[in-house]
Amino acid sequence: MDCKILGAPVQDGAGRMGCEMGPSALRTAGLAGALRELGHRVADLGTILPATVRPLAHGNLALKALPEISAWTAGIAEAAYDVSADAMPIFLGGDHSISAGTVSGLARRAAEAGRPLFVLWLDAHPDFHTLDTTASGNLHGVPLAYASGQPGFGGYFPDLPVAVDPKRICAMGLRSVDPAEREALNQAGVTVHDMRAIDEHGIAPLLRAFLARVAAQDGLLHVSLDVDFLDPSIAPAVGTTVPGGATLREAHLVMEMLSDSGLVSSLDLVELNPFLDERGRTATLMVDLTASLMGRRIMDRPTLSHSGS
Ligand code: ARG
Ligand code: MN
Ligand code: MN
Ligand code: MN
Repeated sequence: MDCKILGAPVQDGAGRMGCEMGPSALRTAGLAGALRELGHRVADLGTILPATVRPLAHGNLALKALPEISAWTAGIAEAAYDVSADAMPIFLGGDHSISAGTVSGLARRAAEAGRPLFVLWLDAHPDFHTLDTTASGNLHGVPLAYASGQPGFGGYFPDLPVAVDPKRICAMGLRSVDPAEREALNQAGVTVHDMRAIDEHGIAPLLRAFLARVAAQDGLLHVSLDVDFLDPSIAPAVGTTVPGGATLREAHLVMEMLSDSGLVSSLDLVELNPFLDERGRTATLMVDLTASLMGRRIMDRPTLSHSGS
């Protein structure tokens, strides 16, 4: 496959500094080499630039860095649209606000190609606040609401050419959801598999059902992987740790199933804060998970199904 790596060193959407170093840490952990080893052609296109920052005033005085994140969203959306024409883009965050740009740019591309875009959101949080409902004001808490066309972004974030249908979004791993988000997720019809559902059913059947829907509609699939999807004991390099996250094996299984499906058309790796890491272990884990998504296997054959011999 043709992979294109793009850095989006955004940190103003998180509550603290450090995510700006995310792309460097993922590169240092050997992302491009790991993909080449699997036989992919890899081009690192360097760093996306934000659009020009213009002043913006909003009634929610808690909002932080609205002009900056709006400008980043415009720049990233343009890059995502351009790069997805003929390759699988891998976006290196940066905090999760970059996905306002990646998902909206990819939705525009998918619409032009006449294919439905599905989104798998792997995260402790749904990031489904609007500019009006966020209490923290950290704009990494809004990208999924923006990209799926929730109200209140007009005039502040770039006009959305095409919204992702919320019914084509599946959020997995949730364990920190604010009341306004819970209401909006239910209202919009987003599929949510919180940690309780994963504990009760196992992660594989939940993912398998979603992948079957994507395949049935000949969809494109964007995967947005927030470091805090993972349990903090294995992935400490994130500013928003929440206990009780996905285990190492659950995370690899998700990536391996995604790989087997052949449906993934783009990927975000977000919220890595290298300042909080321990000798690069979280960056290395994110690269290993990407390798599983891109075809690395323990054995060089697919796992046999239960019914197989
Ligand atoms: N819901 C919380 C907030 O809005 C946490 C958001 C965390 N988002 C993230 N991308 N880490 O502040
Ligand atoms: Mn263009
Ligand atoms: Mn997130
Ligand atoms: Mn999160």
